Amino acid sequence: NTEKLSSARFAEATNAFVEVFTASVNFDQRMAQQDIQGSLAHAAMLGKIGILTEQELTDIQHGLAQISGEIERGEFVWSVKQEDVHMNIEARLTDLIGIAGKKLHTGRSRNDQVATDIRLYLRSEIDVILVQLKRLQIALLDVAEREADTIMPGFTHLQVAQPVTFGHHLMAWFEMLCRDQERLQDCVKRINVMPLGAAALAGTSYPIDRHMTAELLGFSRPSNNSLDSVSDRDFAIEFAAVGSLIMMHLSRFSEELVLWASAQFDFIDIPDAFCTGSSIMPQKKNPDVPELVRGKSGRVTGHLMSLLMLMKSQPLAYNKDNQEDKEPLFDTVDTLINCLRAFADMMPHIKAKHENMYASAKRGFATATDLADYLVRKGMAFRDAHEVVGQAVRLGLNSGRDLSELTLEEMQGFSLSISADVFDVLKLEGSVAARNHIGGTAPEQVRKAIAVARVLVGS
Ligand code: ARG
Repeated sequence: NTEKLSSARFAEATNAFVEVFTASVNFDQRMAQQDIQGSLAHAAMLGKIGILTEQELTDIQHGLAQISGEIERGEFVWSVKQEDVHMNIEARLTDLIGIAGKKLHTGRSRNDQVATDIRLYLRSEIDVILVQLKRLQIALLDVAEREADTIMPGFTHLQVAQPVTFGHHLMAWFEMLCRDQERLQDCVKRINVMPLGAAALAGTSYPIDRHMTAELLGFSRPSNNSLDSVSDRDFAIEFAAVGSLIMMHLSRFSEELVLWASAQFDFIDIPDAFCTGSSIMPQKKNPDVPELVRGKSGRVTGHLMSLLMLMKSQPLAYNKDNQEDKEPLFDTVDTLINCLRAFADMMPHIKAKHENMYASAKRGFATATDLADYLVRKGMAFRDAHEVVGQAVRLGLNSGRDLSELTLEEMQGFSLSISADVFDVLKLEGSVAARNHIGGTAPEQVRKAIAVARVLVGS
C-alpha cells in the first residue's frame, strides 16, 4: 500500500522532497509497540460499543499481534510514503486483514493517537530511568557506608573550609537524587492521563467509552478537554525539565570527580575500565565517563529549550509543529538512561585516597572554625575569637605548619584562654565528630542517614 494519504482529495502526488521532509517514520517508529497497544485498546472499545463485529475485532487483534512480532524481529518494512509510525502500521494491518483494518481508525485521529503513544512511551521509559536512578542511589549508599569515617576537606569557593567525611559528601549527592526521583514520579501523574477520544480536536460523534479505553491502557483517567488533549505537550516539557535537573546534578558530580582525579587534588582513583588514554601522551589516563556526562548535560537542557520554543506560539489545537517534539524527547530519555547507568556502574569502583584527602584538609587549616568555637566556649565573643584564630592561621602559614602543629605557648601568645585541651578540637577527627546532629558530618550521623536512606530506597 503506497498510495498517498487521503489521496482522493489531492490532484497531484506529493513532491518527492516534501514527502521525506514531512515524514517522521524514521524516528517515531520507536513508539511502534505503544501504537499497537493503543490500537488494541481502541479496537476493544469499538467492539464493545458495536462498531466492530467480534470477527473484525479478532482479525485486528491477530493482525496487530503479527505486526508486533514483525517489528520485534526487525522484519517490518517501514515506508516513508506512509509518513509515520501510525500510518505504517495501519497500512500493514489492512494488507494483512483487509476491511477490518480500515475500520480501526473509526472515532480516532492521528492527533489523539500520537498524543496517547507519547504518553505511553514516556510512562514506560520513566520506569527504566527510575531503575537506573535507584541503582545509582544504592551505589552511593554503599560507597558512603565504606567511607563514613574518611576525612576530607569540605570546600566553599573551592577553598578548604571545614573537614567533612567523604561519606557525608556522597550522601549530599544521594539527597539530590532523592528529589529527582520524587520529581519524576510526580510528573508521571500528569503524563498518565488519556487523550484518546479527543479525535482530531473536537471529540467524535460515535458513542465511545473513554473510561474503558483508559482502564485498558492503565491511564488514571480520560483527559478533560479534547482541544487540550491533542495539543498539550507540557507533560513532555515537564519531563525534560526534570531530566535537565537530573543531568545538572550528574554534571556537578562529574565536575567533582574530574577535579578529584587530577594530580593536583589526587583524592580518588577512577578505575581503568572507566577511563581512556591519549593518542599522543603515553602517560595520560583521562576521566572520560564523568567528562562525557558533564558534556551531555548541555544536550538535555537544550532539548528543554527546544520543546519550550516548539510550543510557545502554537494556537489550539494540533499543529504539525508537534511532530518536532519526538527527537528531543527520545534523546532526553536515552541520555538520562545512559548517563545514570554509566554513573551507577562506575561509582562502586571509585577508590578514595584517604591519606591525600586527610593531608589536604590539614594543609587548608580546616579546623580554624573549631578553634574559634573553642574560644567562644571559653567565654570569648565570636568576632574576637575570629580575630585570634586569624593570627594563629597566619603564624601557621608563615611557618609551614597546621594549627594542630603550633605549640601551646605560641597559641597562648594570642589568647590566655587557650589551654592543653585545645588539641582535641584541632584534630580533624574531633572536628567532624563534634558535628553530631541531624544533617551533620559526624560519622555517627552519616551512618544514621545511610540507615534511613536504605529504608527509603529498600536496599
Ligand atoms: N506524525 C505526526 C506527529 O508526530 C502524527 C500526527 C499527525 N497528524 C496530522 N494531522 N498530520 O505529530
